[in-house]
Amino acid sequence: MTHKERTKETPNGTLQKNQKQTAIEVLAQSLSLIERKLLPHLQEGITVRELMEKTGSSDAEVKRALMWLSNHGIVELENKEEKIVSLGSNGLLAVEHGLPEIRILEAIKEQPQTIESITSDSLPRGEIMSSIGVLKKNRAVEMKKTDKGMLLTITPAGKILADNEDVYALRAFFKGKTSSTFPLAFASLSTDEQQQAIELSKRKDFLKIGLEKTTIVHLTTTGKQLLNAKIDFSNLEEQLTPEMLVSGSWKHKTFRRYDVESPVPLLAGGRRHPFREATNLIRDVYLSMGFKEMSGPWVESAFWCMDSMWIPQDHPARDEQDTFFIDGPADLPEKELVAKVKSAHEEGLDTGSTGHTEQWSEDLARQRILRTHSTATTFRMFGEQGVGKEDGKYFYISNNFRNEAVDATHLAEFVQVEGFIVGDDLTLADLMGVIKEFYARFGIHKIRFKPTFNPYTEPSMEAHYYDENKKKWYALINSGIFRPEALAPYGIKKTVIAWGMGGSRVAALLNHKNNLRELVGPTVDFEWIATHKKPLLDLEDDGAEAPDMTKKRIEESTEGGN
Ligand code: PHE
Repeated sequence: MTHKERTKETPNGTLQKNQKQTAIEVLAQSLSLIERKLLPHLQEGITVRELMEKTGSSDAEVKRALMWLSNHGIVELENKEEKIVSLGSNGLLAVEHGLPEIRILEAIKEQPQTIESITSDSLPRGEIMSSIGVLKKNRAVEMKKTDKGMLLTITPAGKILADNEDVYALRAFFKGKTSSTFPLAFASLSTDEQQQAIELSKRKDFLKIGLEKTTIVHLTTTGKQLLNAKIDFSNLEEQLTPEMLVSGSWKHKTFRRYDVESPVPLLAGGRRHPFREATNLIRDVYLSMGFKEMSGPWVESAFWCMDSMWIPQDHPARDEQDTFFIDGPADLPEKELVAKVKSAHEEGLDTGSTGHTEQWSEDLARQRILRTHSTATTFRMFGEQGVGKEDGKYFYISNNFRNEAVDATHLAEFVQVEGFIVGDDLTLADLMGVIKEFYARFGIHKIRFKPTFNPYTEPSMEAHYYDENKKKWYALINSGIFRPEALAPYGIKKTVIAWGMGGSRVAALLNHKNNLRELVGPTVDFEWIATHKKPLLDLEDDGAEAPDMTKKRIEESTEGGN
C-alpha cells in the first residue's frame, strides 16, 4: 500500500487525531492512568493525605502519581510538617460512645448509682475516676461513701449538662465525627475545635496532637491550564492490542503518548572504578610503546625488595617506620645468587667497587615484608627469569605498601607504575627521551629533570612535570641507570634504564581530581564513581613554554625514596 492510497482510505477520525494539537493536549495524552486518576481531585494546596481520602488510593500510589505529575511539570511538591490530631484508645471510646463524663451523668440521671455499677468495658473505671474530677469541678455530681461503694448523685447543674448538648463545650468536639475522621489536620479545625482538641489532648490516651511530615501539592501554570482545559480522557487508549490491529479499530483511537523525555531513575550498573580506568590507560600507553607487562608478589622478602639491588642493610628505608614486617622468614633464592649479592654488598663482586664494606647478614635478607616499591619485582625478574640478559622493555602496575602517616595524598597502600629498558650502551639521554615520550602520551609536554639519589641507580634523576591548572611543578617520576653493583649478581652486562612513577597522582590527573582522597576512601563522591566520564588522555594542551622551574616550588610526589 503506498502512502497516497493510505491517506485516501484514512477515515475522518484519524485525520482529527493528526491535527495540530495544543501543547496541553499533547501533555494530557502522555499522562499515565495513575496520573489521570488523581487529576480530577487536584487543587492548590491539597495534601497527600487528602488525596488518599478522595481517591481511595494508598500513600505510595498517591506519591508515585504526584512524582510523575511533577515530572510532567503539572504540580510542584512541597514537603512540610503538619500538625495532626489522632485518636488514642480512650478517645476512640469517646468517639463511639460519647464523652465519659456525659455518660456518667446519663447513667445516674434517673437515680444515684455506685461507681461499680456503671463501670463497663466501654466506660472503664480509669475513665470514670478521671471524669469525676471534671464533674465535681462543674458541680455536676455529689459523692457519698456507702457500704455498697462510692455512690454518685446527679445535681441540678449536672442535669442541665446531661440534657443540653451545647452547654458543655468539649461535647461539641465529637459531634459529627467518627473514628474514620481521624487522623485529621489540626489546621482544618475551627478555632473552638482547636481549643477543645488541646484540652482533650491533656487527657490520657484521648487525643494526640503531633507533627507529621506531609506533602503539599502546588499547581503550576501548566497544571492550571491542564485543569482548565477539562480534557475528556474517556477515549484515550493505554495499549495497542492484537484485536485492535485485526479489526482495524486502532485507526479511530487515540493512544497514550510515550514520554521518551520523562526522567527515569538513574541505573548505575557495575563499572570499573575510575582509578582502575586510569591505570588501564597507563597500561595502554606502555603497550603502545612496545613494553611487556609483568607482575610480582605483594609479600616479598627484604632480599628482593632491598638486598638484591644493593640497598645497604643499614638503609633507613628498612626501618620499622617505613616497612610493614610479616611474621616468619621468607625464602631466599639459590645459594649461588645469594653469595653473589653478599659479595656485591661486602666487596663489590667483580665490578671494581669496594661495596658497602660491611658484614652482610642473611637473616636481615630473610625478613618477610610487604613490597615497598615495585623495583623489587624488577630484580625478581632478573634473578628468577633471566630478564636483563636480552634487550627488552618491561613495565608493571603494582601495589606497594609503606608504613607511613595517612593523609590526603598518602595511604599505606599505593600504586606504582614502573618500567625499564634493557639495551646496549643506553645513556641518560635515552632515559630522558623515553620519559619525555611517556609523558607526551599522557598529553604532558612541560617537563624538567633534576638529579637525585637512589642506592641502586647512578646517575639518578627525577622528572618533574608542570601542572597547568595548579600552576605548579610536580615530581612524578624517579629514575636512573642501574648501578653495576646492582646488576653484577645477575650477570647482566647490558645497560638497564629504569623509572617508577606514582600511580595515584596520574589517576587523579586523568580524572581531573585534586588528589587520591577524591578517588578512593571514605570521602569519595559515590555518585561521581557511578556516573563519571571515563578518563581520557587529554590532560594538557601542547605548545606553550613552561615557566622557569627554579622559581617555582617543587612538590615531591613520586611516592619514592628507596
Ligand atoms: N623504586 C623507585 C621509587 O620507589 C623508583 C625507581 C625505579 C627509581 C627504578 C629508579 C629506577 O621511587
